[in-house]
Amino acid sequence: MEERRESSTGPTKSKPGRAASPIPLSQVSASAEKRLATGIGELDRVLGGGLVPGSAVLLGGAPGIGKSTLTSMALANLSDAGEKVLYVSAEESAQQIRLRAQRLGGGALDVPVLAETDLGTIVATIQQERPSVCVIDSVQTLHADGLNGAPGSVGQVREVAGALMRAAKSQSTAVVLVGHITKEGDLAGPRVLEHLVDCVLLFEGERERTYRTLRAMKNRFGSTAEAGVFEMSEGGLVEVLDASARFVAEAKRAPGSVVLCAMEGSRPLLVEFQALVSPSELTQPRRIANGIDRNRLALVLAVLTRHGGIALGAADVFLNVVGGVRVDEPGADLAVAIAVAAAAKGVIPGNGTTPVACFGELGLTGEVRSVGHPDRRLAEASKFGLQPVLAPPGAGGDAREVASLRDALAAVIASGEDRLQAV
Ligand code: TYD
Ligand code: MG
Repeated sequence: MEERRESSTGPTKSKPGRAASPIPLSQVSASAEKRLATGIGELDRVLGGGLVPGSAVLLGGAPGIGKSTLTSMALANLSDAGEKVLYVSAEESAQQIRLRAQRLGGGALDVPVLAETDLGTIVATIQQERPSVCVIDSVQTLHADGLNGAPGSVGQVREVAGALMRAAKSQSTAVVLVGHITKEGDLAGPRVLEHLVDCVLLFEGERERTYRTLRAMKNRFGSTAEAGVFEMSEGGLVEVLDASARFVAEAKRAPGSVVLCAMEGSRPLLVEFQALVSPSELTQPRRIANGIDRNRLALVLAVLTRHGGIALGAADVFLNVVGGVRVDEPGADLAVAIAVAAAAKGVIPGNGTTPVACFGELGLTGEVRSVGHPDRRLAEASKFGLQPVLAPPGAGGDAREVASLRDALAAVIASGEDRLQAV
């Protein structure tokens, strides 16, 4: 669409501006920025050390994942610490919010709430109350007067967020915008906000499962490599600090099960991968992946067929990352391959007594490629006594280095009969 010209008489001439004098960065004052700790360790870490005053954070997640719970808990802690806070809900009534606060306990009942959908009223309230942190739940359900389009439409979402951020920034209020995303991971409406806000956090996991991960997709004030693991309990979200221990304790010594030494940001995390391979009755066999990208599964299956000698053409393949965790790194390839190969052959990887662990990316020619932080991954595996740990060449330590998929399969997956006799 062509934009309308300011003047209709010929080409517009812009007024010459006054020159400003640029200054060297070394002369820009670098005052140490203050951070507002939310008191939720995992959230503070993902934020890069807490909320920055005046910043705007977008928190995305599927309905029911726990966004309202997480933000309510953060505001309760901030309020306990003496910060002025405000929780604006355009989705739930004040009574509903109170019921949640009762479950959460602590300072949750002291958080001032505003159940309102009208943008003008909300902006005026923020300007009057001047909280240091304000949560807007959710940005898709607010309504801006004088704008066409339904709440949640791209135009409305952009206008609503822009107005809130301007009001917040001018008085150093940190604002957390909650946004719904679809099951496919699409930030639908809020996607238009990603470049406006300072920080984009995604809260992910399977709703019916207990574990959820919080990740930074963008962060102007910290790293995007950090991730936090939470568990939904009867009294709110609980940080899971010993996630590896839990996943390993639950890991099955069964065909199709293997442990991946994953990295959740700067932290190693051991997670179990399970695969099931069964003859298919469909002309196009099923490929179901929970917790990893479908396309990644397809790629690994192709490499397995071509370079691992494992034919899966007529089989349904299911792959599950146990506990509802999502793993988004190429280092998971080897775990997918071993789990599927073991499931296809019906053998338990390794010697059947200790769970086998692994990490590494698979190249299209069947080579095992290195991934980041081999030392931390190995240290975590050895902490839990996993043996052997298959790793890319150069991993060092007490890793069992494998250069190719073929080597990896030879190391932990013998032929079905041999293995069954050995067990
Ligand atoms: P909610 O935070 O409302 O999710 P979102 O805002 O992302 O849509 O809560 C998600 C679910 O968690 C909800 O179905 C109820 C459940 N829940 C608990 O199990 N324990 C609790 O203490 C709370 C507050 C909620
Ligand atoms: Mg909610």
